[in-house]
Amino acid sequence: MAPTSSKFCVLLSLTLFQLHLVSGGRLANGSSPLNQGLEEKTTTIHFFFHDIIVGEEPTAEKVAEVEMSKTSMTGFGMVALFDDPLTEGPDATSKLIGRAQGLYASASQNDLSLLMVLNYVFLEGEYNGSSLSILGRNSIFSSTREMPVIGGTGMFRLARGYALAKTYSLDLLTGNAVVEYNVTVIHY
Ligand SMILES: *[C@@H]1O[C@H](CO)[C@@H](O)[C@H](O)[C@H]1NC(C)=O
Ligand SMILES: *[C@@H]1O[C@H](CO)[C@@H](O)[C@H](O)[C@H]1NC(C)=O
Repeated sequence: MAPTSSKFCVLLSLTLFQLHLVSGGRLANGSSPLNQGLEEKTTTIHFFFHDIIVGEEPTAEKVAEVEMSKTSMTGFGMVALFDDPLTEGPDATSKLIGRAQGLYASASQNDLSLLMVLNYVFLEGEYNGSSLSILGRNSIFSSTREMPVIGGTGMFRLARGYALAKTYSLDLLTGNAVVEYNVTVIHY
């Protein structure tokens, strides 16, 4: 019986849709089923990121480029992987607080903008073992760049926030850079 079965289908899909709303939606008090009963905290972490391309112990290396990279003014298509130290101060010998591990790719044909995909893994103090994940656009010659924090683990489970970056020093010959970061996250 066609009419009855299509009515049934409509009913079924309405029910599934409502179930989806309930399971995915936020509760009335603004908390989600995942963070119920937990208090929201805001944390800002300040550190310096050391990207060493040329040196005794490099921390970043190009892993790929495309045909267009050779003629592009911005090196479009280049991809590099890195495992960069994060330190308390701008000096490479200052206290290590974690590492930034991930990749950057030259993703703009018109300016030097990198697609950044990385995790900060913290190695000391109360954040030891916790991590934050970043996915964003880094227009490296802008004085301040902003990248979204899209998640985290450990102390930073369910984190969301943003990272602000400013170049502290850049060697144009080697590409080695020290970048100051303030990363602000809301977590529980
Ligand atoms: C961080 O945690 C690891 C693993 O639990 C431990 O081995 C290490 O000593 C800790 N580091 C600091 C500085 O507390
Ligand atoms: C980080 O915050 C400090 C203190 O407010 C400020 O002096 C510094 O300029 C900020 N740096 C960045 C990259 O936002």
